[in-house]
Amino acid sequence: MQFALFGKEVLDSGSAEDIAASKGPRVAPFKSQLLKWIGNKQRFAHEIIEFFPREFGTYHEPFLGSGGVLATLAPRPGVGSDCFGPLIEIWQCLSSSPETLKDWYAARWKRLRTESKERVFYSVRESYNSKPNGADLLFLCRSCYGGVVRFRKADGFMSTPVGAHNPISPESFSDRVDEWSRRVASTNFRHMDYAEAMSLAKPRDLVYCDPPYSFSQAILYGAQGFSLPDLFRVIGECKDRGVFVALSIDGTKKSGSFYCDLPIPSGLFEREIAVNCGRSMLRRFQMGGETLEQEVVSDRLLLTY
Ligand SMILES: C[S@@+](CC[C@H](N)C(=O)[O-])C[C@H]1O[C@@H](n2cnc3c(N)ncnc32)[C@H](O)[C@@H]1O
Repeated sequence: MQFALFGKEVLDSGSAEDIAASKGPRVAPFKSQLLKWIGNKQRFAHEIIEFFPREFGTYHEPFLGSGGVLATLAPRPGVGSDCFGPLIEIWQCLSSSPETLKDWYAARWKRLRTESKERVFYSVRESYNSKPNGADLLFLCRSCYGGVVRFRKADGFMSTPVGAHNPISPESFSDRVDEWSRRVASTNFRHMDYAEAMSLAKPRDLVYCDPPYSFSQAILYGAQGFSLPDLFRVIGECKDRGVFVALSIDGTKKSGSFYCDLPIPSGLFEREIAVNCGRSMLRRFQMGGETLEQEVVSDRLLLTY
């Protein structure tokens, strides 16, 4: 067994118990979400982070989404990236001008005082679809159904309906912005494809990947053209350079009765951990809002170290 990259010590060989005892950073759970985003890992982020190496250089998150793991870790330094331009506009605004981010949200929310939620939502959605931008996307993800930010395959149209909930107040959003901007103070946000982002990682840096799920997320942003074998190749190149990579991927479905059998190249990962992700939000959406007790999803966390 080669676990030489885990933590500071060099372990040429070691028992599974040695490795399990060698835990990574301990961080407190961080519940307050800035964006509502399907597939969000924030509730389980502290569990995932426990399996990160004890020490590493720069933290890279190339499938950033709503940044739940990054914000829970609060890395120093970090690079957060995503191929979804309007989403990265939100992160860059949080980092360079948090007050502007608050204004973006407040300006749209204040319309709810005089117009119905449906009217405001669909007019913001129309504005977004005519010219995709971070300011509209911010309000849409906070107010759409279940944070399922989905796009029509044919023309990229954002097609999620309005949510049943009331979007949080600008005051409460503003508190979240303050907390999140502290947590991402040492992070640089970039609009990039994951392959470019991962090529920038240096030896002993850590890359955490949470790609669009090949099994359950085909309707979501960026998932349609996504190729898992390509990602495995890029992870292999990182591993060869001495970069640590942790990958979250579909685990069991239906309370463990169905195991997603992905073609994982042998020898690429050294360890695998099951992380309980609660009930599947996406499945609930497809079932027309019904909650299904058996829809428990357990993510697999695969580690190259
Ligand atoms: C499952 S989500 C990540 C969720 C995130 N962990 C969270 O807590 O919110 C996957 C993300 O990958 C992005 N993505 C899809 N294809 C990509 C690509 N080729 N390069 C970079 N990002 C990509 C999507 O835009 C989406 O934000």
